[in-house]
Amino acid sequence: MPFDLIIKGGTVVSASDTFIGDLGIVNGKVAAVGKITDPAKKTVDARGKVVVPGGIDVHTHFDMPFMGATTIDDFSTGSTSAIFGGTTSIVDFAIQKKGETFRHALDDWHKRADGKSAVDYGFHMIVTDFPEKAEKEMDKLVDEGVASFKLFMAYPGIFMSDDTTIFRALMRTKENGGMICMHAENGSVIDVLIAKAIREGKTSPEWHALTRPMTAEAEATHRAIAMAEIAGVPIYFVHLSAGDAMEEVRAARYRGLPVFAETCPQYLYLSEDDYRRPGFEGAKFVMSPPLRPQGNSERLWNGLVRNDLQVVSTDHCSFCMKAKPSQPGKELGKDSFAKIPNGAPGVEYRMLLMWDAVQKGRISENRFVEITSTAPSKLFGLHPRKGHLNPGADADVVVIDPNKPFTFSQKSHHSAADYNPYEGVTVKGSIKHVFSRGVQMIEDGKWTGSTKHGKFLKRTPRSFA
Ligand code: URP
Ligand code: ZN
Ligand code: ZN
Repeated sequence: MPFDLIIKGGTVVSASDTFIGDLGIVNGKVAAVGKITDPAKKTVDARGKVVVPGGIDVHTHFDMPFMGATTIDDFSTGSTSAIFGGTTSIVDFAIQKKGETFRHALDDWHKRADGKSAVDYGFHMIVTDFPEKAEKEMDKLVDEGVASFKLFMAYPGIFMSDDTTIFRALMRTKENGGMICMHAENGSVIDVLIAKAIREGKTSPEWHALTRPMTAEAEATHRAIAMAEIAGVPIYFVHLSAGDAMEEVRAARYRGLPVFAETCPQYLYLSEDDYRRPGFEGAKFVMSPPLRPQGNSERLWNGLVRNDLQVVSTDHCSFCMKAKPSQPGKELGKDSFAKIPNGAPGVEYRMLLMWDAVQKGRISENRFVEITSTAPSKLFGLHPRKGHLNPGADADVVVIDPNKPFTFSQKSHHSAADYNPYEGVTVKGSIKHVFSRGVQMIEDGKWTGSTKHGKFLKRTPRSFA
């Protein structure tokens, strides 16, 4: 069979196996894997390189209005940043405003992404309002491929849902097969701690962490697991940061409950100490949940190895340190940590930060593929189309130069953010080629893609089952 493209002689890594072989691609799909002798229109030499399925980041916020600002990355810059980092699919969050229908919110997010994305994209729906009449609408969204819903136990008055709403939403997923994604922090407790700190004049960025204790995350995680257990449905925890919260997930899984969690590179590589950088620099790291004290990340690394945590996503949510004429950023919180827009860029750094963990012997190369691509694909209804390189899958392929060092910097990244949380950090490995559905988006580290390439991903419910 003549192939459109053969990626030849690379070390092909899946979630279960590693072997040296060729990848044959026809019409944007993987058509053959192994030793290929047929001709191809184009051949890419991958000898000495590592060939993995395109990264899937199931937690990004592009073009997101939040805390008086809008993220500086829209779908165009955010998705370009993703591709440069070896991520070929994302699941972003559409936001239902209070009083708004899911339909209206989803149409809004389709407009934000349509024709502007380099990566294939799906949506979760952030639920802020769940009257009875919204239950049927939720079912419809699942049918349309928006099969997951984020609820917040934090941010009272903005996003937070009470337990009645959370429990009703969980119960509804039993009917419609959707997945609830939970932001687990006890927002009521946190708000009291924030008010006290402000009253006492404790306004610098480090107080963001000190007013959001690990126990507030662990308590909310425990409560949400209990509600999911009573409802008899799975639950997925987003951006899990605290070892104590992970213990709740681990205990639930040990009891056989379908409880899943992601963590993010910032919780593995950074710590609470970063809030104490000089001046206002700590604001770069203000996100929720916050970075945790030294030592916590070791617990998360162990959890990744033991499969207490199944996914590494980024929670890419970028704001600039310095305001742009059209867009305020982190400086909104100069006088109070509570007003710093929460979030940081990350989508471009995830794959290499996790590959570096392979190089350092923390995780195997197969586990790398599992947590960055295969598991998110299965949990979020993209399997069997994405997340692996078996025949029939979309030819989303990343060729990593495994030993070539790469240094993170704001000067060279492709996010519009004016800082890089990993500035100056050097990892072992760099992204050489990226293909999305067989189209070369990055060649030898250079852009060959288009921000019109990405397509909406209609996801299937509960494919992990
Ligand atoms: O600080 C964060 N994580 N910002 C984005 C919103 C969220 O909770 O994911
Ligand atoms: Zn969240
Ligand atoms: Zn988020």
